[in-house]
Amino acid sequence: MHSHGPHPTRRGWATAPTIARVDVIRVKGGARLAGDVMVGGAKNSALKLMAVALLAEGRSVVANVPRITDIAIMAEVLRRLGCDVTLDGTEAVIDVPAEPGSEADYDLVRRLRASICVLGPLLARRGYVRVALPGGDMIGSRGLDMHVSGLARMGAEISGEHGFVIASAPGGLHGAKIWLDFPSVGATENILMAAVLAKGVTEIDNAAREPEIVDICEMLNAMGARIEGAGTSTLVIEGVPGPLKPVRHTTVGDRIVGGTWAYAAVMTRGDVTVRGVRPEFLDIALDKLATAGATIEPGDNCFRVRTSERPRGVDIVTLPYPGFATDLLPMALGLASVAEGSSLITENIFDGRFMFVNEMVRLGADIRTDGHHAVVNGRDRLSGAPVRATDIRAGAGLVIAGLCADGVTEVGEVHHIDRGYPDFVADLARLGVEVERTDVPEPTFDF
Ligand code: EPU
Repeated sequence: MHSHGPHPTRRGWATAPTIARVDVIRVKGGARLAGDVMVGGAKNSALKLMAVALLAEGRSVVANVPRITDIAIMAEVLRRLGCDVTLDGTEAVIDVPAEPGSEADYDLVRRLRASICVLGPLLARRGYVRVALPGGDMIGSRGLDMHVSGLARMGAEISGEHGFVIASAPGGLHGAKIWLDFPSVGATENILMAAVLAKGVTEIDNAAREPEIVDICEMLNAMGARIEGAGTSTLVIEGVPGPLKPVRHTTVGDRIVGGTWAYAAVMTRGDVTVRGVRPEFLDIALDKLATAGATIEPGDNCFRVRTSERPRGVDIVTLPYPGFATDLLPMALGLASVAEGSSLITENIFDGRFMFVNEMVRLGADIRTDGHHAVVNGRDRLSGAPVRATDIRAGAGLVIAGLCADGVTEVGEVHHIDRGYPDFVADLARLGVEVERTDVPEPTFDF
């Protein structure tokens, strides 16, 4: 078996998935999902919380991290910066030296775009940082202009050469008023992590409001930072002279994984209780399911979603939080594909999100796209076929669409799913799906 990716066995995670070159999940359609599913910490929070740890010398612990490939890569990014990182169960224990390194190389950054989030904290601590540019990916072009202009306003000198972004602030950063053109999650985080140790007050207007941003602010404040306005569009950060102190912080539950199970439940006319996620973080997504005909019972850090009828079509528009999450777009398209009537689905965040529509069409979905709109005419059943995952969310969306298809659906390149969904196959099996995962060797061709 070929394997690539991180080697999570080196320090901890002896049972973490090894990745084969060609890997498939095979599901049999027709199951009705039923039972409980436990959701772990949010990938998009945990990755950044690990970078937050860089801001304080000593041992920080990020608890409730999901056991996924991306976390193992982030651990490797931090090790190359001189940190001692242990992944133990669902904890990342990060020991940060007095002077962490200041470089993140392309071999890791290209495998984990999110490693760009070390830019802010390293600039704050070292006054110099050199991080490889991540490049594009399958969900579209993803710029860094707002990260760069925000840090520049705080006094950083930034240049790009040989595929790296280089930022320096030898005299330290200073507070600034920063307006973001768009509430970018990554730019808000980088600016935030740089501002906590800057001289003076930084105000970020049109900041991202995601629960993961709130999580980061909570960890930073526990370390001694002074941030107000977390969860609103205006973040006010009063720089502190430092040093910040290491802390133990528990990652917020993964609303995208929770939302994925909620959509899967309704698409299969099932009854699923999702635990470990606060339903208020999925307000619009769950309200759409209610409009589609499902019953939603919110609880304390859990919710139940059930229906016995075919869902009705609903129109969905993705927007920054608290709007409908772009990461649930594949699930919205899946729901629309099996719903009664037609739905209009609009994507506003990533220009490449509809890339996987061709794979959905292979499953018999009736979807037409025009720019960032998709018109979907629901079908009673889809039709099982071999398809290919193109990113984390599309991968999960295709497997779930396969649950509503006649016969067997085989989703290839499911290492994408490993990047965001721990125990995906085991969870599906527990919820009543006939599912298996196989690693198929890459075909070779003789001449
Ligand atoms: N953008 C720019 N310039 C910038 C920053 C962003 O043009 O300086 C654009 C991007 O090109 C994109 C849009 O703004 O079109 C949104 O980008 P944003 O910065 O908000 O997203 P991100 O930080 O790159 C995070 C998540 C994504 C999630 C988005 C939106 C992480 C590691 N990634 O990305 O998650 O879709 O926010 O909520 O936190 C995933 O988990 O599968 C995933 C893609």
